Amino acid sequence: MTEERWTAVDEYIEHLLQPPDPMLEAALRDSEALPNIAVSPAQGQLLHLLALTIGARRILEIGTLGGYSAIWLGRALPEGGHLLSLEISEQHAQVARGNIARAGLDAKVEVRVGPALDTLAALRAGDTEPFDLVFIDADKPNNPAYFTAAIELAHVGSLIIVDNVVRHGTILETEGGDPNAVGSRKVIEMMGADRRVRPAVLQTVGVKGWDGIGFALVVEG
Ligand code: SAH
Ligand code: DHB
Ligand code: MG
Repeated sequence: MTEERWTAVDEYIEHLLQPPDPMLEAALRDSEALPNIAVSPAQGQLLHLLALTIGARRILEIGTLGGYSAIWLGRALPEGGHLLSLEISEQHAQVARGNIARAGLDAKVEVRVGPALDTLAALRAGDTEPFDLVFIDADKPNNPAYFTAAIELAHVGSLIIVDNVVRHGTILETEGGDPNAVGSRKVIEMMGADRRVRPAVLQTVGVKGWDGIGFALVVEG
């Protein structure tokens, strides 16, 4: 009953706040063969709003899937803005590129295929202009490494967002447990311990069940 209510409320809010959106709907339809783990419409809208709030011009996403969150974030970019999204699966990247092109975002949004740790290392080794917003949403055991890389690739004022940091509460049961939960809890610990960021973590409910989103604003270089 509770989960049904969460879903019903999420759908009601979506109905009030989001007019029918053929591009996002088509992106979800074309992602049906992929895992059903994209952010929810409400979460996508929050990502979009946050990117607008900080005036993000350069966004880094870790974990593309079918490009659903990339479309929400890409739509917040101004003319000349850029979103780089990292994805390990060639198949997911193909689907995402199709969805991104149909949404008219192919000039702004680039999907780069490969293990994100490798791509991040290359970005750090290269002369990469810092990102204003980093959205971490790939394999959870690597969350600590992604968070470290995100700070290195950011600047004072950048916002780092980490998806799935609560995972139905499993982050409390990490002893010998689920490596996803360990990765998610570790990144919260890092947020709390790193003087370079101001953190906030919020639990969430809705169509994706019970989870949470972590935020870290970079305040020191
Ligand atoms: N941000 C997407 C959902 C991403 S799901 C959205 O909300 O629409 C997580 C994605 O991370 C999957 O597509 C998976 O293939 C990818 N992934 C998993 N391990 C990865 C790795 N090591 N490097 C890059 N991408 C990875
Ligand atoms: C999983 C990953 C996600 O990014 C998500 O939003 C939900 C679930 C998962 O791997 O289980
Ligand atoms: Mg996620």
